[in-house]
Formats: sequence, structure tokens, C-alpha cells
Amino acid sequence: MPKAIPVPPAKTSHTVFAVFEDDVAALAIALKPAQAAFLTARAFTGKPGSLVVLPADDGTLIAWFGLGARKAYNPLSFRSLPGQLPKGVWVLNVDPALDLHFIHVAWALGAYSFGRYKETPKTIEAVLDETGLDKGQRAAIAAEVSAHALARDMVNTPANDLGPAEIEACARTVAEAHGAKITVTTGDDLLAANYPSVHAVGRAAAPGREPRFIEITWDAPGALDAPVVVLVGKGVAFDTGGLDIKPSSGMGLMKKDMGGAAHALALGQWIMETGLSVRLRILIPAVENAISGGAMRPSDILASRAGLSIEVGNTDAEGRLILADALARAGELDPQLTIDFATLTGAARVALGPEVVPFYCEDEDIARRLEVAAIVRHDPIWRMPLWGGYRDALDSDIADIRNDPAGWAQAGSVTAALFLQRFAPTAGAWVHFDLYAWNPRGRGGWPVGAEAQTLRAVYTMIQDLA
Ligand code: BES
Ligand code: ZN
Ligand code: ZN
Repeated sequence: MPKAIPVPPAKTSHTVFAVFEDDVAALAIALKPAQAAFLTARAFTGKPGSLVVLPADDGTLIAWFGLGARKAYNPLSFRSLPGQLPKGVWVLNVDPALDLHFIHVAWALGAYSFGRYKETPKTIEAVLDETGLDKGQRAAIAAEVSAHALARDMVNTPANDLGPAEIEACARTVAEAHGAKITVTTGDDLLAANYPSVHAVGRAAAPGREPRFIEITWDAPGALDAPVVVLVGKGVAFDTGGLDIKPSSGMGLMKKDMGGAAHALALGQWIMETGLSVRLRILIPAVENAISGGAMRPSDILASRAGLSIEVGNTDAEGRLILADALARAGELDPQLTIDFATLTGAARVALGPEVVPFYCEDEDIARRLEVAAIVRHDPIWRMPLWGGYRDALDSDIADIRNDPAGWAQAGSVTAALFLQRFAPTAGAWVHFDLYAWNPRGRGGWPVGAEAQTLRAVYTMIQDLA
């Protein structure tokens, strides 16, 4: 019998051309007349985010995706692509000068959906072909993508399924996956371990939801002299406001008040997974700001790990109370760099809106490095002043400091940062991010819900440092 002639496998993947406005005309010359006519009929001009799908002769599809003007290129525009494409495997055809890593990450960020509570979650079925990438590239992309997904999954999960105990469980999973050490101090043990403010904020929560202090320690293999980097995250599983209770309009989104903890864990996971040369410590005070007979009251005066007495002018300014103890702990670890993440104030969103994250840092070198990394990684942050003129707004008549600033200072994100500064390490640089961690507006690739912010900027800054 004659040997069968090998038949090449049927081509099953589709092709997406990502094109700049300026290149549309030149590229269209290569199209078949029918395809070109279709492109013209659909008035495709390469506007950012626009898409036209055309049939190819072999039964596959060709898509044209607009990138807009070359000089205004933002790789994150690829977030809107997977949700617009038909189901199937897509091979990307793009100017080789563009950053492929970033494009793959953006695609994955746009393909994210939170499906935990739906029988039929809205999943995106377009898959980006990765065969052109080497193993190292794929691993780097996967680490970046899963860090963003971890932060978003945690923030999206409501407080009935993500209390302090589940924050601890997430931390254990991250630590154990990378052979990191983890210690957790829970409930009344916080008093003996000298975390009095964490205890005071979290003690009103129901049994099983006790406050806790989570500490993860990881040293990059062989990096004995690597910088000590401490990541601190506000882990308020739900913020009712405590006895100075929030109105329902303000409480609705407060499942996301552990966004800082989610970001610290996500960034920590990314750093460990990619083996950045640092000695990493992650500190998470995890509490629920609840209401019960045991709740802290307005006018209570708390002890703190740093030894400063704190007058609780408002129980809703709870984030800075738990961060006070966490930052004091950071100072004991001899850090070169301490970075805290916190959904700390409503005033941050009033100042810069939901997309631009205010940050505070008095180390000029670190601040510059962050600003550059933020631009390169399209991760918008904006430096704000630790304005000394407002420090007196935190004066208390009978304690060392109060947690609710006097009204005259007005700048709520700034005064919150000034409060933290009293407790932040004096060794090394300190950076504070006042996060929002949420997309209030849904659009293709940016669904309403959790958003990871500042991760790329901070990771890149640390990577360049280490
Ligand atoms: N978790 C809130 C801040 C917040 C509110 C972040 C809305 C993102 C969106 C925080 O604990 C809080 O309530 N802060 C108060 C402080 C005030 C009482 C001094 C605030 O911002 O109003
Ligand atoms: Zn609050
Ligand atoms: Zn809060």
C-alpha cells in the first residue's frame, strides 16, 4: 500500500492584526478586494479599541484591532480586545517593536472575570496564542497576571466569605507556595504580643472573625545582603465604620477595605514567584471593623506598639490605627524600604478620582524611581505632600495623637498620611499608597469591581533596585 501523503493539520487559529491609525491605509493594500471593501464599509480607521472581524479564505478569521496614534500608544488598550473577539485561539500580528510581555499581560487583565458566585459566569473564550514566547517569558507573564488576579479576587470576595480568618488563609497559601515562614497572632494574644491597636479595632467582631496580625518572612535564595523590603497592607475585611457608623451609601463598597492587604500579598507573591533578590517581609493586620458591646468607642484612648497613646476621635478612621502597629513592627525589621498599601481615605478619591493613586514618600530617589516606573508600566500614581503645616490637626488634648484630624486641615488623605508618618520606620525609605482598588465604571476589559493598582509600578521599582 502506498504511504499516505501527510496532510498538514488544519489551521485552526485566527489572526488579529493590531494596527496604528497611520498604518491602516498601507496595510489594507495587502487585503483581498472583498476584505478591503468590508473594512471601508465598517469605517475602520484604527481608533484605539476599535475592532473589525473579517473572513479569511481558509475558514479562519482575521481581526483588525485599532491602536490609535503611535505616539499615544498604551499597551493597556489590549485589555479591551479579548472580550470583543469571537471564541478561538488568536495569533497576534503586531509591530515587533512593541512590548509583547506587556501586551500578553494586558490581554489577561482584560480577560479576567469574577465567577465565584454564578452558575454561568461571563467568561471570555478568546485565547491568545503563546507559541511565539519562550518559557521564561511565559513564566514572567503568568506571575504578573496571577498577582493581579489574586488582588482582584480577594477584593471582589464579600466579607461573609472573606473575613480575617480567610485573609489569613490566603496569606498561608501564598507563603506555603513559596516556602516562606508565616506567623499569625490572633485574638487576645495580640495584647501579649503588643499589638494593642489591632486588637482594639478588631475585638468587636464575631467569634471566628477575631483580629489577627500576619507576618510573612522570605529571603531570596543566596541573597544574604539583599535589601529588606517590608510590604504592609490594611486588611479591614469589612468597614462598618464602627460605632461612628457609616451611612449605607458609604458602607456599600466596604468589602474592599482589605484591598491593601490583597495588594501586599499579591505583590509579595509576584516577588517570590519571580525570585527578586530581596529579603521580603509582609505584614498584614487583618480585622473587621464591627459593632458590638465590645467595640471601641469614640473618645477611647488606645495604646499602640510604638508607645504613643491614640485618642479615637472617630472609630471609622480605623485603618490608620491598625497600620500604626504594623508600621511600628516594620521599623523593628531594619528595613531599607517599607511600602504600605491601604484603602485609607475617601478623600483620596475626591482628590484624584478612582484611577490615579496618591502616594507619599519623602525619599527623593525612591519617589523618582516610582514615578518613572509608573509611567513605563502605565500604572498611574501621583505624589502628594506630607505637608507639615497640617500636622497640628492631629493634636489631642489628652493623648499623643488623635485619629480624626481637625476640620481646618481639610486634606483628608494628607492628614491620614501624616498620622501614619508618626509610626513609620525611621530607617530606610517609606512609601504610602492610598488606594481605591475599584472600577466604579464598567467598560470592555475594565468590569465594575476590583482593580489592582500600583502593583506594576512598585514591582518594577523594586526589580530595578534589587
Ligand atoms: N475605609 C475608609 C476609607 C474609604 C472610604 C476608602 C471610601 C475608599 C472608599 C476609612 O476607614 C474611613 O472610613 N476613613 C474616613 C476617615 C475619617 C473618619 C477621618 C474617611 O475617609 O472619611
Ligand atoms: Zn473606616
Ligand atoms: Zn476603612
